[in-house]
Formats: sequence, C-alpha cells, structure tokens
Amino acid sequence: MIIAVDGPAASGKGTIARALAKHFGLPHLDTGLLYRAVAARVLAEGLDPAREADVVAMCDFDESVLASPDLRSDHVGKTASIVSAHPLVRAALLQRQRRFAQQDGGAVLDGRDIGTVIAPDADVKLFVKATPAIRARRRHEELRRHGIDVSYDRVLADIRARDDRDSRRSEAPLRQAADAAALDTSFLSIEAAVQKAIALSEAQMARRD
Ligand code: CDP
Ligand code: CDP
Repeated sequence: MIIAVDGPAASGKGTIARALAKHFGLPHLDTGLLYRAVAARVLAEGLDPAREADVVAMCDFDESVLASPDLRSDHVGKTASIVSAHPLVRAALLQRQRRFAQQDGGAVLDGRDIGTVIAPDADVKLFVKATPAIRARRRHEELRRHGIDVSYDRVLADIRARDDRDSRRSEAPLRQAADAAALDTSFLSIEAAVQKAIALSEAQMARRD
C-alpha cells in the first residue's frame, strides 16, 4: 500500500500525509525535508545553490540531519527549491525515496513528484491544493507562531516564486498526476480536509481491489 500526496507549499499536504499515515498505520516520509537538508548543508558550507556539481556533493547525509528544526525556515525552503531543480540532485535522492516507498507493508510519502516520478504505481494519489493567498496566510501564521517576524506580502511573494520555480523546472515539475484525486483545502478546516483525504483514499483503494 503506497500513498502519494503531492502539492505546492503550505497546501496542507504534510498535515494530510501524517494523518493518513496514522489512520492507515503506515510509516511516513516528508520528502521536502530531504531537499531542505541538502539546502541547509549548501548554506552552511557557503556554496552557490546554482552550481549543480557542488550541490550534488551535499546529497549524502545521515538520517539524523532530518530532525533539525533549522530545516523549516523559509530561507532553507527557497534554497531547497533552487537545489531541487538540478537533475543530478533529484537522481541522488531518488533511491532513498523509492526504498522508503517500497518497504514491506507500504508507506505514505508527501512532496512534489511522488505520484509522477517516485511512485507512479502508488495505490492512492492525492494532489492537495489551496489558493496562493490562503497558503501564504497559513505559512505567515506558522512563522509568527515560531517567533519569525516577516510580512504577509513577503510570504506571499516567496510562495508565488517557489510555485513558479517548482512548476517550470524541466525535471519532475510540480504537476497533478493524471490519475490523482485533487483535494482543495482552501476552505476546509484541518479536520474536514483529513476526513476528505481518508474518503478519497478509501475510494481509490476500493477501485484497485
Ligand atoms: O513544506 P513546503 O511545501 O513549503 O516545502 P517542502 O515540501 O519542504 O519542499 C521544499 C522544496 O523542496 C520545494 O519547494 C521543492 O522545490 C522541493 N521538493 C521537490 O522538488 N520534490 C519533492 N518531492 C519535495 C520537495
Ligand atoms: O506540507 P505543506 O507545506 O503542504 O503544508 P502543512 O505544513 O501541512 O500546512 C501548512 C499550515 O497550514 C500548517 O500550519 C497547518 O496547520 C495549516 N493548515 C490549515 O490551516 N488548514 C488545512 N486544511 C491544512 C493545513
């Protein structure tokens, strides 16, 4: 049982993926963290995120790196979207994600290209979305909760720039897989979004059986 959850920044895909993992008793991987870990190492080493060869050398890291709270910052997120456009960086992180997806018993993965590239044969595929303004409001509130003082307009501009970069890149761009169910969370509470995600997942599982 592989569940693929994709979508843009702050659409709610992480919240939904964690809830589905709990509901169906499966392990969960937030694949964005892998790109964020590479980005954080690039920044720590003072490297240029645009130089593919330098970035590729940062792709081999220990699992423990993923627990660092520093990975959550918007600066790391923005750098992650620059390093993730390099084909060799995506290739370096591919096997790790495939292994996680194909483990015995199944798994839930969330990211940008799970249903299209990492697990094209996933049993369940969801594409989570919400309007840019609503996603920016959510991310803005989240940053304020963490004591990070940044304007709403700045967060909205960052979200739009990241959407643009993630959707236009040639390698594994952000797009809805043809067989994914769309879930617009713009006007849904977290609870309502999770209930809808469970119902959509069960419907896709039933279709596969
Ligand atoms: O949490 P948020 O949606 O803001 O970002 P994230 O999922 O942590 O991803 C950070 C960046 O990593 C994204 O903007 C993408 O450029 C990249 N990413 C990707 O290319 N492919 C994935 N499967 C996951 C993330
Ligand atoms: O993983 P992704 O970046 O797509 O989003 P997330 O981390 O799941 O959600 C981003 C923020 O929006 C979190 O603070 C969630 O609690 C919030 N959220 C919400 O307000 N309503 C939803 N339906 C889903 C998430």
